[in-house]
Amino acid sequence: MDFFRAFYRAYKKRTPAFLQAVIRPFWRFIIKIKTLFHCVICVKTVVSWKRADFVYKTFDYVRHSSLELIAREIYENNIGGNVAELGVFQGDFAQYINQIFPDRKLYLFDTFEGFNENDVRTEKTNKSYVPDNDIFKNTSINMVLGKMRHKENCVIKKGYFPETAKDVDDTFAFVNIDVDLSEPIYNGLWWFYSRLEKGGYIFVHDFNHKRWTGAKIGVKKFVKEYGGVPYFPLSDGAGSVIFMK
Ligand SMILES: C[S@@+](CC[C@H](N)C(=O)[O-])C[C@H]1O[C@@H](n2cnc3c(N)ncnc32)[C@H](O)[C@@H]1O
Repeated sequence: MDFFRAFYRAYKKRTPAFLQAVIRPFWRFIIKIKTLFHCVICVKTVVSWKRADFVYKTFDYVRHSSLELIAREIYENNIGGNVAELGVFQGDFAQYINQIFPDRKLYLFDTFEGFNENDVRTEKTNKSYVPDNDIFKNTSINMVLGKMRHKENCVIKKGYFPETAKDVDDTFAFVNIDVDLSEPIYNGLWWFYSRLEKGGYIFVHDFNHKRWTGAKIGVKKFVKEYGGVPYFPLSDGAGSVIFMK
């Protein structure tokens, strides 16, 4: 009892020594418990959403998680159209598009031989970043198809975009544009945006990327010429933007 009385007296006086020795550590402890409790609740909520397994396996949680939630919106809202990726390289992201849209045709546009010389020249004129010439050459159609769970859905469009799109007559629910340079990004937005279903989405990778500065130039040029298309900056690893129609 004496201890509690002494404690109560000290609490009433609230001397700096008492605050320092007892009250502050006590509140710090409570805040730690509260934070821990909050983390447990968050993990429990996310797990209970029954997320696709790839969301947890990949390095860029925000990018992959956004793809999954967008696919969910597309299915829940019965948005029609097929899906596409412009800029496939080794198919690392395309495999998840293929997995999460199992009933849609997946168009895969890439030179499969790296950047186009004219696009690189434009980039140099803009004083934007372009790495050495051998980048993105280490790929093949077989390598990409080997990663696909639903290979039968894949339509390979090998060669320079937008030329490879000339014979495509389709509409889209989801498109990922990941071609790094301003010119193919600009061309990709013009080509896909008009073919995007209402309620569909386009991701453009690298918009806020520190190095690939051409991405923002391509996006802004399209937005200005089209007459103001709203987009949402995503806080994923590369600073993508999302267009929604
Ligand atoms: C960053 S990589 C794509 C990475 C891939 N999306 C991923 O997540 O793993 C960029 C790709 O865009 C392709 N590309 C760039 N410009 C192109 C164009 N005009 N036509 C077709 N493909 C192009 C390159 O060949 C390269 O494979």
